[in-house]
Amino acid sequence: MAPILEVKDLRVRFDTEAGPVRVVRGVDFELEKGKTLGIVGESGSGKSVTSLAIMRLLPRPSGVIEGGSVSLDGTDLTKLAPSEMRRFRGNRVSMVFQEPMTALNPVQTIRRQLGESYVLHHPSMTPGDIETASINLLEEVGIPAPEKRLDEYPHQLSGGMRQRVMIAIALACRPDILIADEPTTALDVTIQAQILSLIKRLQKEHGMAVIFITHDLGVIAEVCDEVIVMYAGRVVERRPVNDLFKKPRHPYTKGLLESIPRLDTEPKTMLPTIEGMVPDFSSLPEGCSFQNRCPHCVEDCKAAMPELDRLDEIGFSRCIRTEELHEEIR
Ligand SMILES: Nc1ncnc2c1ncn2[C@@H]1O[C@H](COP(=O)(O)OP(=O)(O)O)[C@@H](O)[C@H]1O
Ligand SMILES: [Mg+2]
Repeated sequence: MAPILEVKDLRVRFDTEAGPVRVVRGVDFELEKGKTLGIVGESGSGKSVTSLAIMRLLPRPSGVIEGGSVSLDGTDLTKLAPSEMRRFRGNRVSMVFQEPMTALNPVQTIRRQLGESYVLHHPSMTPGDIETASINLLEEVGIPAPEKRLDEYPHQLSGGMRQRVMIAIALACRPDILIADEPTTALDVTIQAQILSLIKRLQKEHGMAVIFITHDLGVIAEVCDEVIVMYAGRVVERRPVNDLFKKPRHPYTKGLLESIPRLDTEPKTMLPTIEGMVPDFSSLPEGCSFQNRCPHCVEDCKAAMPELDRLDEIGFSRCIRTEELHEEIR
């Protein structure tokens, strides 16, 4: 099946006072209809910036897509005029952010913010239609007494309710793709579980594809089909979720999973920390970016950036020693 989303060699730069900083350095992945792709990696590895670039929501003017393509059903989003992109955003591809207060408008009612999406993408809907659709949607995401909530403002809602409202807005127009960037990190475990099952249900019902960014390996194991592991702005490993958990191939992935005994890990198992620091983007070493923290680093690793090599039909790893370490790192 042709993927619904194809990201090829995506590159993002920030123009800062200290000069240009390249934080997404050639990201490739594909996403199929109805599937869930997880993105993991330590803080600062470029997960959010990758999502923002796909959505064309990078801060302006500092954030620049320098190269590559983001093809949604054959349309390269990076080439769209802003007005064209507005028709895709919300309608074909939506995003849920970690902190709903930054995504919701504090001075607009829930009614207004939900309605905006319908007004933009379905101009023939009457105010009555929009009210009915909004109430149904709030009900769908598990908000009690939705009629009453419509005329409230974000600050009148609890954190979990705000997160649901944001998901409702993201799902209003039944997007083909939902990007969820740490959507449940700030929530307590019960609400987190409810939101995950909500996303899963909607995904089944509508064939929506999901990109799920999280630090929580339990969540990855529960919801993802495939996982990409990011390090310093690049994909270092890409595998089906079961394979990755069973037998990580890249030394960085191995480090991340080290403390995880089995796939049926307790929820809320956070990524363990690996010794050393994520390297500074403005002074990355020649060769492999993970070299200074890698227990398997040899001289050749410092010579050139390894390719993201294909391991088999379904897996990729960016390490020149992948094959030789295969037996060792299991
Ligand atoms: N607006 C910005 N200006 C400059 N640098 C930024 C900006 N936003 C993010 N970055 C940098 O880009 C890198 C990747 O960030 P991010 O994608 O947010 O990481 P994460 O994987 O934690 O989501 C980090 O080094 C971060 O400091
Ligand atoms: Mg992030």
